[in-house]
Amino acid sequence: MTAGKKVILSGMRPTGKLHIGHYSGALENWVSLQRDYKNYHLIADYHALTTNLDTSEIFGNTIEMIIDWIACGINPEESPIFRQSKIKEHTELFLIFSMLITKARLEKNPSLKEQIRDLNLNSISYGHLGYPVLQASDILLYKGELVPVGEDQLPHIEITRHIAGLFNQYYELEEGRKIFPIPAPKLTGFARLPGLEGDAKMSKTLGNTILISDDAETIKNKIKKAYTDPQKLRKGDKGHPEICRIYTYHKKFNPEETDEIYLGCTSGKLGCSDCKMNISQKIINFFAPVLEKRKKLEKEKDQILEILIDGEKKARKTAESTMQEVRSAMKLG
Ligand code: TRP
Repeated sequence: MTAGKKVILSGMRPTGKLHIGHYSGALENWVSLQRDYKNYHLIADYHALTTNLDTSEIFGNTIEMIIDWIACGINPEESPIFRQSKIKEHTELFLIFSMLITKARLEKNPSLKEQIRDLNLNSISYGHLGYPVLQASDILLYKGELVPVGEDQLPHIEITRHIAGLFNQYYELEEGRKIFPIPAPKLTGFARLPGLEGDAKMSKTLGNTILISDDAETIKNKIKKAYTDPQKLRKGDKGHPEICRIYTYHKKFNPEETDEIYLGCTSGKLGCSDCKMNISQKIINFFAPVLEKRKKLEKEKDQILEILIDGEKKARKTAESTMQEVRSAMKLG
């Protein structure tokens, strides 16, 4: 039963196989929300074009990402999975919304400033400037009330709220019925995991990731090479777990032992190599069932395509009905 449930719209760009930072920062949360909400899972393939015009890998990346989603527990029968580019209403609503919001408001978007850190505003595309407007259409076409996101996405949700408010102010259905809810962000409990090296979070572009699909050997090797506290050179040296990425991994994947590890590290009794072997095994165990499910799904790629087509049918139905309301309220067509 989905009647009466609040609507959640979550989305990711199809960047390929997901890493364990995606899991703890987003996917885990999506899976636990499935019970109490009506979920839509969007694959933001148009958004992918804002940073990469090479489309040759988008389809393959989409399939790999869906495999990760389902292997981690997303149930596509209850929660449609669909590509943005397959539901033409996204572009229609995007165009209408782009008439409501000012260029100045979009230029102020801190996420955009972050993304184009080394460029200037004149060198980004018109579509890139409109990134949050497209995201607003993603959310509002399905009348999303909650959007599970990380902190970095908060400015985008703010723009969605702004646009929904503007639309409702200009247009309404008969008897003053408003079409769009004002969606709220739903922050995930755990911040993105730190990457295997450097100060940044785990990210595909930085190549500092452990993939959900990595096998046991790969995980062990990657963790073996990961950076730890630079002041702890050998067993016996006193470490600083609060600045160590491995300790953060323990907090997430080995919560029962964190106190013991903290004491062991700060007193010097626990060496980095043992600490790393321990967390490697915990991560391997944690993702073992996911990996098994993933392997099965890998062999059934036709089925993944069917899941997508089915999800797109369901999403389209909702999107068409919202657009009919929009056209009617605007007295268009
Ligand atoms: N901007 C999101 C990201 O980069 C992806 C996204 C596109 C999205 N449309 C969305 C997220 C709608 C939530 C809701 O992660």
